Amino acid sequence: MVALSLSFVSCDDGHVDDPVYDDHSETYTVQITGTFKSLNTWTGTYSVAAACFDEENAYSLIQKVLPSTATDSTMEVLTLAGVPTRTKTVEIALVNSLRKRIATLYSYNIPENQRYTDTIKIDVGTLNVGMFGAINQFIFQGTGTNCSRCHSSERAAANLDLSKENAYSNLVGVLSTKDTSKTRVVAGDADNSFLYKVITEGDENVGYSHPGLFADDKYAPFIDIIKEWINGGAKE
Ligand code: HEC
Repeated sequence: MVALSLSFVSCDDGHVDDPVYDDHSETYTVQITGTFKSLNTWTGTYSVAAACFDEENAYSLIQKVLPSTATDSTMEVLTLAGVPTRTKTVEIALVNSLRKRIATLYSYNIPENQRYTDTIKIDVGTLNVGMFGAINQFIFQGTGTNCSRCHSSERAAANLDLSKENAYSNLVGVLSTKDTSKTRVVAGDADNSFLYKVITEGDENVGYSHPGLFADDKYAPFIDIIKEWINGGAKE
């Protein structure tokens, strides 16, 4: 916690002296360096941002969206100025258009004794921040939805293996086993993709109801993200 003691001296003429801070500033600057892979796979309304969060709130205090026009693997130096001192974490996060955090891809905790007069420099290394990578990590492998519990390499319900390495090649352009008139993922067409049908409304040929797996607020936005991923061309 930063102690901000302000002392105002007010005079009869209405003049107020500049506030005096123990720690010189209310805001500071963060500089982030990193190599971001597959950033250019993001299409639609969600994006990857360098963002600052306090403890209470899932909406970023300040953020900078990483440019999705980047080439496959881009080294970026991002400067966030005007970062409020109540920031607890600086993250590379998946955010929606209202700046709400959907998932954290990388997180740095501001140390208790941070001096805010110095620019905070964070090197995040190399991060895969691709759209499919996020879906794979947070949904197919995620502990909440846990698709690979029933769709692993050893035990693949409906012959669908959603393990980390095999998920992509088992989905895009592959015929459904439960309804052979359908393709699991038709790149560019979510409405005709069996995956999308199974997770949004279920299907009479599928003996397990999937929409419930996305009931938690943490996972619900991924229904939308999967739709945007498919409609954007289902890139790896
Ligand atoms: C509790 C086990 C279970 C979990 C967890 C589970 N599934 Fe399934 N899934 C099934 C069963 C069972 C079937 C249909 C198999 C059958 O009826 O023979 C199926 C079928 C499917 C199909 C149809 C495949 C085809 O080719 O017809 C898709 C797509 C699918 N699941 C996706 C997912 C996704 C994505 C997740 C995670 C969000 C998930 N499943 C989690 C059990 C599960």
